[in-house]
Amino acid sequence: MNWGIPDFLKKRLLFVTGKGGVGKSTVAIAMGIRAALEGRRVIVCEVASSENASRIFHQAAVGFKEVELANDLWAISIDPEDAMKEYVLFQLKVKAMRDLLFRSRIFTYFAAATPGLNELVTIGKIWELTQLDRKVKHGRKYDLVIVDAPATGHGISFLQTPRTFANIARVGPVHNQAMQLETMVTDAEQTGSVIVSLPEEMPVNETARLESELAGDIGLAVDRVIMNALYPDRFPAGDRRAIKRLVSSDDPDVRAGGRAALSQSRRVAAQNEQFDRLKDMVSAPISTLPFIFRPEVDLHAARRLAEELE
Ligand SMILES: Nc1ncnc2c1ncn2[C@@H]1O[C@H](COP(=O)(O)OP(=O)(O)OP(=O)(O)O)[C@@H](O)[C@H]1O
Ligand SMILES: [Mg+2]
Repeated sequence: MNWGIPDFLKKRLLFVTGKGGVGKSTVAIAMGIRAALEGRRVIVCEVASSENASRIFHQAAVGFKEVELANDLWAISIDPEDAMKEYVLFQLKVKAMRDLLFRSRIFTYFAAATPGLNELVTIGKIWELTQLDRKVKHGRKYDLVIVDAPATGHGISFLQTPRTFANIARVGPVHNQAMQLETMVTDAEQTGSVIVSLPEEMPVNETARLESELAGDIGLAVDRVIMNALYPDRFPAGDRRAIKRLVSSDDPDVRAGGRAALSQSRRVAAQNEQFDRLKDMVSAPISTLPFIFRPEVDLHAARRLAEELE
């Protein structure tokens, strides 16, 4: 393992983004494990959990309450309804008013009728988690908050929510709070993002587009692109000719072995081609993670990925 904390894990808040299914949840956990191993107090937040529930979170039964997954590594799944209730709790000091609001259906109607409100309170909860002076009773202090953000399409509008609200409500508390969240998202000193990609054509294209949208439209720093699930290059160039000979062998077993080796080496070549494209298309530094040959990526496998992060 390359000990020493990777630079991009030194910020306070990191959004992990990328196309659907590229490994965002896995990488978010791996980053969390790594930062915790390096002595930082970390929490990994899952948002919109119904869409992207990660197996690791599911196994540990992570909900809206902060749960410890490992030493210094915590997790929370932010459900917008819970986040909204907590927000109202902090805003309305008068208990009778809160009870009235929770019991009436106005609340539910209001949330349903206001596009982006769920996203806004979710980002509000993320903000609360980054505070050293937590509003939540007995809330722990975290050095690093890692957000397993929604996949690209949703991710962009999710991150845009504070600005949208700040523009709609031009004055008043909503404006001020939305501005505060907007300032948090765009503060490159403390806040950044990681884009997860795969060595395939579409994810590489999407990564380049996402980088320009995040850095440009949203104003969120992109600290790292992670090329995930790279196959190991088992056959150096010299072996390829030998593989071709195996494929034309008279022995069927040797031929089968040769074909497997040929397919693997072609796969690696195709991945390398996409990796080269990525290098040309993005400006953030790139890290790589290996493909893990296991039926599923559990906490143990995520730890292996954590150690590979540089
Ligand atoms: N490096 C890797 N090696 C092998 N399998 C991996 C690797 N990274 C992720 N996976 C597997 O790929 C699948 C998708 O990963 P993951 O759930 O982390 O993606 P995601 O981007 O969060 O997806 P979604 O957009 O649905 O939330 C999972 O089955 C995961 O175990
Ligand atoms: Mg996910």
